[in-house]
Amino acid sequence: MKVYNVAIDGPAGAGKSTVARMAAKELGFVYVDTGAMYRALALAFFRRGIKPEEKERVLEVLPEFNVNIAYQDGEQIVFLNGEDVTSLLRTQEIGNLASDFAPLAPVRKKLRSLQQELAARTSVVMDGRDIGTIVLPEAEVKIFLTADAKVRATRRFKELCERGVSCDEGEILKEILARDLQDEQRENSPLTRAEDAILVDASSLSAKEVAEKIVELVKERCAL
Ligand code: DC
Repeated sequence: MKVYNVAIDGPAGAGKSTVARMAAKELGFVYVDTGAMYRALALAFFRRGIKPEEKERVLEVLPEFNVNIAYQDGEQIVFLNGEDVTSLLRTQEIGNLASDFAPLAPVRKKLRSLQQELAARTSVVMDGRDIGTIVLPEAEVKIFLTADAKVRATRRFKELCERGVSCDEGEILKEILARDLQDEQRENSPLTRAEDAILVDASSLSAKEVAEKIVELVKERCAL
């Protein structure tokens, strides 16, 4: 059976995961959240007390960490050495830590292979930072999803409030801007728009509107 790949890249908080999940469901594709894989490895290093600047230790222990993903009722479950760590990954701290470890070449190489294997086996909507540029350069549809930093901060603030997490909107904005800069300026697979990616500014669009746009594009290009 022919396999189709959709790549969605963009900065933190642009709504990539919500949109990617919706589009994947509508298309019957598998949604792959690559940020969760980086978060799982960051958690593994954190638990071992290893910092991103300790490059030799990172290299030494990396082979001991196994990240796997599975699906339950269409939701991605992330396993770290067999332990389900999904519920531990969505904090701001782990997100920032993932961004700190993400520039390291061996970390990216390990996760890139896993992501490419998944996309070769099944049709996916995969979101991240380097999917359209490095991981799936041949993806049938590439989207670069962005939104104004203030809009992203407000959305994340509301999301955290709904989950009962106490937080400060100004702090979230600062962290989002710092993470954008770090993800964009790293040498290794920086966050950047692939030349053939369609730019979608979601500042004034709902997730549903963006997902519908993506589904339409996929149906057109993949003759589904
Ligand atoms: O999408 P997210 O917030 O869950 O990602 C967390 C961090 O992981 C992000 O700031 C940078 C890194 N990341 C990456 O470098 N490449 C990807 N494909 C996905 C995430």
